[in-house]
Amino acid sequence: MIMPEALNPWSSSQAIDTRRLFENFGIEPIDPLLDLLPEVPGFMRRGIIVGHRDYRPIALAIRDHRPFHVLTGFMPSGHPHLGHLLVMREVVWHVSQGGRGMITIADREAHAVRGLSWEDCDRFGREYLTVLFALGYRGEAYFQSKNNALKDLAFEAATRVNFSELQAIYGFESETTLAHAMSVITQVADILYPQVAGGPAPTIVPVGIDQDPHIRLTRDVANGLRYFLVEDRGDHISVRAKNAPEGGIRAVTQALPGSQAYEGHVDVRGMTYGAVSEIVREVERDLGGFGFFTPSATYHTFMPGLIGGKMSSSIPDSSFGFSEPVASVRKKVMRAVTGGRTTLEEQQRLGGDPDRCTVYELNRFHMCDSDSGLAEIRQKCLAGEITCGACKKETAERVLAFLAEFKERMDEVEHLADEV
Ligand code: TRP
Ligand code: SF4
Repeated sequence: MIMPEALNPWSSSQAIDTRRLFENFGIEPIDPLLDLLPEVPGFMRRGIIVGHRDYRPIALAIRDHRPFHVLTGFMPSGHPHLGHLLVMREVVWHVSQGGRGMITIADREAHAVRGLSWEDCDRFGREYLTVLFALGYRGEAYFQSKNNALKDLAFEAATRVNFSELQAIYGFESETTLAHAMSVITQVADILYPQVAGGPAPTIVPVGIDQDPHIRLTRDVANGLRYFLVEDRGDHISVRAKNAPEGGIRAVTQALPGSQAYEGHVDVRGMTYGAVSEIVREVERDLGGFGFFTPSATYHTFMPGLIGGKMSSSIPDSSFGFSEPVASVRKKVMRAVTGGRTTLEEQQRLGGDPDRCTVYELNRFHMCDSDSGLAEIRQKCLAGEITCGACKKETAERVLAFLAEFKERMDEVEHLADEV
């Protein structure tokens, strides 16, 4: 199988054809679920999150105040920058909606795939955590290389994955190092880890669309590690033993009053699918299994780099860091690629094109919280009522005000990163 570039986690391309994702990869649009949420955050209202897998259980958990986990991860291969802000905000928002937060610093991946030293991983990892805490994150966090329970879980997960799957999903070849494969299975473990540390519950993993291969693999592993398969057969619920230990079927039968046991499966009538699932999950846990919920994900698009193309720490002008000098940040915003016309006369007559403008994107993603404020920028641009120079200047002021306040908050919370 050939990997589409946009779905290769280690590729440098970020071009995405969203319709193809929906049609070919089973990712679904998020809009139909937004009505379930008590409060719809900007990144969902503004189309920044393009799709999801299984977000429904998360939306329901938020609505009904039931437990759920939220986890994401950062590879500490450079300084955190503007491009990381979105996923961090997604995590902070889900925690504010009742989620239990977990952050993984993927130092195994940075070391294995990008060749960073452990010292650098440690230094950059702390920077990521400081930014997160400054954004208001409150929850748990760990470095992959220091979490033994995670490594045990990765080993267990590895019993469900073979080399031909890694080859099909990631295009791994015979030259691929074992450490690269280990960093993949460590990420699978990351995504399942909240349910080991905090008990089984729906888990949302906000990620960029490039991480979907990991999500699909993890969903398969989560199912593969289950002892029982619960299926709705219309007039009854069927529970089948997959990898259950001796006595598994007997234990399920005893836990489900009125059920009928057969060779390798149990049929239940008069109970809902949800109720049977919960009881079976408890039996599985009693027998020593994980009882995982299949993890869910949301997928966001990427903010373009300020000079067009990809935003990346290896292209300094594409983005700015959180501790960068004022003059440097201002210069980057003032030089950003816009959707403006070549002459003032044309700009006034034809208007600009906000949909091809990195300055507009900066506002849409982060620098303009109010929807009416954003609509005003858009309208003025389209009507040719503002020049790009003036528009950039206003945006730069907002960026600098944000950074000034943010730096203070980073100083206040730096000690939290040291405690991880
Ligand atoms: N692979 C991710 C990246 O390149 C980092 C990561 C590691 C991650 N573990 C994770 C992301 C778990 C989401 C969930 O950025
Ligand atoms: Fe972009 Fe502003 Fe210029 Fe419009 S006016 S193209 S939003 S910089």
